[in-house]
Amino acid sequence: MNVVVVGSGIAGLTAALHAHEAGHAVTVVTKGVLGDGCTGFAQGGVAGMYGPADSAAQHAADTIDAGAGLSDSAAVDVLVHDAAARIAELIARGVAFDRGPDGELLLGREAAHRHARIVHAGGDATGAAIAGALVAATRRAAITVVEGAFLADLMIVGGVACGVRVLVGGALSDLEADAVILATGGAGHLYAHTTNPEGTTGDGIAAALRAGAVVADLEFMQFHPTVLAEGPAFLISEAVRGEGATLIDVDGRRFAFDSHPDGELAPRDVVSRALARQAAAQDSPVRLDATMLGERVLARRFPTIDRVTRERGFDWAIHPIPVTPAAHYLMGGVVTDLDGRTSIPGLFAVGEVARTGVHGANRLASNSLLEGAVFGARAATAVGKPWKPVPAHVPTDARSASTAGTCRTRPRPDGSPFSRSVLQRLMWDDVGLLRTDEGLEHALDAVIRWRSTAPAPVTVAEREDANLLLLAEATASAALARTESVGAHYRDPVASPLLETV
Ligand code: SIN
Repeated sequence: MNVVVVGSGIAGLTAALHAHEAGHAVTVVTKGVLGDGCTGFAQGGVAGMYGPADSAAQHAADTIDAGAGLSDSAAVDVLVHDAAARIAELIARGVAFDRGPDGELLLGREAAHRHARIVHAGGDATGAAIAGALVAATRRAAITVVEGAFLADLMIVGGVACGVRVLVGGALSDLEADAVILATGGAGHLYAHTTNPEGTTGDGIAAALRAGAVVADLEFMQFHPTVLAEGPAFLISEAVRGEGATLIDVDGRRFAFDSHPDGELAPRDVVSRALARQAAAQDSPVRLDATMLGERVLARRFPTIDRVTRERGFDWAIHPIPVTPAAHYLMGGVVTDLDGRTSIPGLFAVGEVARTGVHGANRLASNSLLEGAVFGARAATAVGKPWKPVPAHVPTDARSASTAGTCRTRPRPDGSPFSRSVLQRLMWDDVGLLRTDEGLEHALDAVIRWRSTAPAPVTVAEREDANLLLLAEATASAALARTESVGAHYRDPVASPLLETV
């Protein structure tokens, strides 16, 4: 069969390699160059190697707890049970995960994991090692690669996906396929501050929405707690806290325990809100204190962070460094079954673009690379098999029925003209860490107004803007519909403005 994979992170390239190895003719189309998406920036690692006291069942329980109970347990079971095979596959494809002097894999711990079970490479350069190995494997295989190809739309005929329309070098062209696997990543650039690289503009989710696919849980955007609070957003891995670093206020007090008994190792959404509130209260960024780890450990275990913080003028072995939250990972997306099938026959979705149900309302650290590998492989295996209808998405709360893509009819006539940065600021302020009815209504009205007056997009930048606007409307709608606070979606009746630190 002809298979088109859109996107070239861990999920897309795993799917492409498996589909190729199963005998399909595979084309990978990617917006930039092969492997330049979010995967290459991942610092943490891949969860799923279990020591003697640990087990897949405990990993599943931690995943569901972090997800605030909204994860789909069948999807979580698949994730943890396929973990060992996918980690072994990455090793076989050339990823040199870090090992101790005895040759055993070194296992790291991150927030909300009860055990150290995360494999990493190059200390904090796991994503780069994985991207490098998968790109090399893809280039070695007889897989066609089309770089610089922007996904303009999915081609749907008779309700079935039959290819993609891409914009390459300013011209639209159609690529026909028997199966399309979306692996386009998330939408961090909906927000003013994000850990995601340029180009993470939700193109796949937007195309799926336009094609009528079922999309859910867009209100669950994860904000990572610790991004360097000076200069362009740069992630300080949660693994640093996993090794013992602490979060301190202006007086040097560890404030994270005020919010959760696990302190700095509480689920990410809890730590992000605690940190943002503390920063607002003290009118300056909180600080991450890693000094107790010492210069040698920091340089060896976190070489990338060590280099970048020093380039920015911080000596984190001696002084705590200022940190702030930023948009990091979208738990929602295109609804899939356990093999990546979406509600549109012939269309699969894997990785961050998908809503597999694994993450619930808040993703557990280092489950994203694992999810990409596990569900990328499973989707490729399902290609060519009889199509199974994807069960209708059951909202996790009666009040949260997906309103993605719905339009309201009362736009406010006034307000700022559209620009991407104004949209990102609006989303940060009104659809961010702490949300109020008033803020969500305000954001939704502005976005509806901008969408109603936007000209038809032509260029890549205009199409990205249109995608961001579509997702902003769907996200604000979903956030308004979910009236309770859960996981990363926090409805604050008395939100105060959060400190602008970046
Ligand atoms: C991190 O290294 O803190 C990020 C890892 C992740 O998002 O899972």
